[in-house]
Amino acid sequence: MEKLLVIGCAGQIGSELTLELRRIYGNDNVIATDIKQAPQDILESGPFEILNALDAAKLAEMVDKNKITQIYHLAAILSGNAEKNPLPSWNINMQSLLLLLEIAREKKLNKIFWPSSIAVFGPTTPRVETPQYTVMEPNTVYGISKLAGERWMEYYFQKFGVDGRSLRYPGLISYKTEAGGGTTDYAVEIFYEAVKNGKYECFLDENTYLPMMMMEDAIKATVDIMEADPDKVKIRSSYNVAGISFSPKEIAAEIKKHMPDFAITYKPDFRQAIADSWPQSIDDTNARKDWGLRNTYDIKRMSKVMLDEIGKKFKG
Ligand code: SER
Repeated sequence: MEKLLVIGCAGQIGSELTLELRRIYGNDNVIATDIKQAPQDILESGPFEILNALDAAKLAEMVDKNKITQIYHLAAILSGNAEKNPLPSWNINMQSLLLLLEIAREKKLNKIFWPSSIAVFGPTTPRVETPQYTVMEPNTVYGISKLAGERWMEYYFQKFGVDGRSLRYPGLISYKTEAGGGTTDYAVEIFYEAVKNGKYECFLDENTYLPMMMMEDAIKATVDIMEADPDKVKIRSSYNVAGISFSPKEIAAEIKKHMPDFAITYKPDFRQAIADSWPQSIDDTNARKDWGLRNTYDIKRMSKVMLDEIGKKFKG
């Protein structure tokens, strides 16, 4: 019987992944935690506790008390916010991971999940169809912490047999919970602003291509890598996952098909330099081959679902 603990259940990924894990493993077998209050559907469907991801003693106590066998650690300071506060962000992102790895080793957890990101790549990385193995010289605090984290994940697997699994998520697109402080956030904000105000001022230039993925596909990929046989998970740092690549201009054109009066303007800020250092598209052959990654959304379907669902939120 698996007992799961989710750190960061109120965030963009956690608010959806927690519910999916409860559907699969049973509501009471998935303990949700976050530093802030969880959304209503998480509070109502199963156990929730406030937890600071840096609180080693409380995490250890929760693992013992609930006989936890798997932890999903989703708490992080994203790329844009981390640049505003470098050392505290490094501390939160790194210390919380090291704490998780130590708990996994000491308590002999069955598995852990920790997300990495396209931010592990940098300006010297080939930007088109970025390979799994390539030059990695990230120049953001967030990217440096994710790359270091990947090395630690692999280290704990090789030295201590900790069964850690990880994906390099592209920008994640979702209508339930907004991200906050990331460079790819524009691709979510644009839909909210389109529905609410019919216009959007984009903080990235119109031709900035970045890889993105619809949350439904990201959740499926997460569950799939976690359920794969251990010998199929050949990469123990983190897997490239591609999703769909588009620019602000292309997504605006797609929105205009549904809302002809939608207007977009461009005012790039400091996040432009971050975006320019990241891949435009990703080669995810390894994930497809090793454990069967699949992507089901294209830009058309993504835009329609985002506009419909956000529309329901504001009109309903
Ligand atoms: N979406 C994240 C960010 O923009 C990247 O992992 O920070």
